Amino acid sequence: MKILITGGGGFLGQRVARELLAHGVKTGAGGASVPVSAITLFDIAEPPAGVALKDPRVTFVTGEVSDKAAVAAALGRDTGGVFHFAAVVSGQAEADFDIGMRVNLDGIRNVLEACRAAGNQPRLLFSSSIAVFGVPLPDVVNDGTTPTPQASYGVQKLIGEWLVADFTRKGYIDGRAVRIPTVSVRPGKANAAASSFASAVIREPLNGIDYACPVSEKTLMWMCSPRRVVGNLIRAFELPSETWGPIRSVNLPGITVSVTEMVASLKKLGGEKAAARVSIQVDPRIDAIVQTWAARLETPRADKMGFVADANMDEIVAQYIADEGIKL
Ligand SMILES: NC(=O)c1ccc[n+]([C@@H]2O[C@H](COP(=O)([O-])OP(=O)(O)OC[C@H]3O[C@@H](n4cnc5c(N)ncnc54)[C@H](O)[C@@H]3O)[C@@H](O)[C@H]2O)c1
Repeated sequence: MKILITGGGGFLGQRVARELLAHGVKTGAGGASVPVSAITLFDIAEPPAGVALKDPRVTFVTGEVSDKAAVAAALGRDTGGVFHFAAVVSGQAEADFDIGMRVNLDGIRNVLEACRAAGNQPRLLFSSSIAVFGVPLPDVVNDGTTPTPQASYGVQKLIGEWLVADFTRKGYIDGRAVRIPTVSVRPGKANAAASSFASAVIREPLNGIDYACPVSEKTLMWMCSPRRVVGNLIRAFELPSETWGPIRSVNLPGITVSVTEMVASLKKLGGEKAAARVSIQVDPRIDAIVQTWAARLETPRADKMGFVADANMDEIVAQYIADEGIKL
């Protein structure tokens, strides 16, 4: 199968591509593995040197997802699978309304229209977010909770989900969308996502850097690790269309973790010195966005579909230490 990954230079794009190249995709009859013959990574920016995938099956295309012709050219006519990751994150979409609309909304529309024009009903996975939920929130969000996003990013993701469902209903694609929890611990530098603190509060102290956390200790987050989310994204792509049925979106499982618990895991696995590097300095702009997010969810549909969560925050921190070779 030939695959296009938009945002393919990014965090999840690179990881998903690596897994697909290594293991193929289980989209054959009865879930049989199908080899991945080619992957096009489409992104506005090349991944940092040393991170970029080196594999003869990978082609990197630099392009802007809001450029309809560029997206159509990257897709071509014989692409069987699409992972749509290109997006500007929550903080940026909120700070610059126009860029959010252009990248997050025009972007998904361009990808869907390119798939429709290709005429081969490609399978498409759309990376949505739990930011589709916002206040007023029930104590626990479940599969029946009505999305009420309170930031432009969540609105753009929700519209994308509806378009994925409608293009699927029309038979233009075989689409599915997953509402991803906050992924932590993300290596590298902090980004403009309002959720960026959930990685930085672990990552920076483990790398010897002091960190001022922009939200209070009591803040709760719905989280999952990079390994879990990559496994779940590929599962979402591989599940047969019938398993999704008419509902093309799902809330992915995660764990609810407070900032206090994040720092406790940091202390347990990284030591007192690392934990002492964290201070709390609430940033009202970040805090205002984060406090509207859902942090407690029940995900029976996802559980039934075979998606899995991490066991606890300790496991997430331990994974980061192991994967990044952190010397304690
Ligand atoms: N990581 C998370 O915690 C999380 C949570 C919920 C949803 N998501 C969604 O998952 C997807 C991937 O997230 P990620 O963590 O890998 O983010 P990322 O920022 O690492 O990757 C996104 C990629 O999109 C590219 N991009 C941005 N604007 C573009 C444009 N105009 N044209 C082409 N490419 C463009 C960026 O250069 C980047 O490489 C995003 O859609 C994000 O909204 C992520």
